[in-house]
Amino acid sequence: MSDKPQACIFDLDGVIVDTARYHFSAWSELANELVIPFNEEDNEQLKGLSRIDSLEFILRKGSLVLDNHTKVRLMDRKNDRYLSHVKTMTPAELFPGVLEFIDELRAEGVRIGLGSSSRNAPLILDLCCITDRFETVVDGNSITLSKPDPEVFLTGAQALGAQPENTVVFEDAVSGVKAGKAGGFRVVGVGSPEVLSEADFTISSFEGFSLQELLSRLS
Ligand code: BG6
Ligand code: MG
Repeated sequence: MSDKPQACIFDLDGVIVDTARYHFSAWSELANELVIPFNEEDNEQLKGLSRIDSLEFILRKGSLVLDNHTKVRLMDRKNDRYLSHVKTMTPAELFPGVLEFIDELRAEGVRIGLGSSSRNAPLILDLCCITDRFETVVDGNSITLSKPDPEVFLTGAQALGAQPENTVVFEDAVSGVKAGKAGGFRVVGVGSPEVLSEADFTISSFEGFSLQELLSRLS
């Protein structure tokens, strides 16, 4: 890609804000109560998955079969714990450099969307005072298929009037990178190059990252 992209779509948890650690802590507590082992490596596979897919992953790991009513109760409990962390969030929890980068893209006329599996995304955007940065927000409330399915990003690109091949996705999750690639997007991994090996390239943070660097690394 040598010309600037038509659009950029950002994942939320672990890309814009450090909420991935709150999800990990809440799932760990639940797994602990169910006496199912759950570590950082397991958590890596949960990133990007919907709430129900995450619970099913943990239950499978513990070979536990539960009825739907119990599953809903457990998801509510996990979400209450997650929200106890989220409720006190402020713009101070935005990752360094991410807002500056988004604002640079906006100033250059690149359209900006959010593509998250989380049903809590609107609340977090609001608490961090960044809702107005996104022309479209596609989240866990509006999609039927969770990452690694590309639905969330395809819906976002369509709302922005952009073609996937002219759109860049920013993702910290293996499932999210797969979703972007499956949809025909260019994907920048935010995190470890070993974990996010399917991304076009990875960055460790947005600090000092610019549109110029994006274009040179994609070309
Ligand atoms: C994703 C996170 O963004 O949202 C997952 O990476 C999380 O860890 C998923 O499970 C669903 O989030 P929520 O807030 O709807 O439970
Ligand atoms: Mg994420």
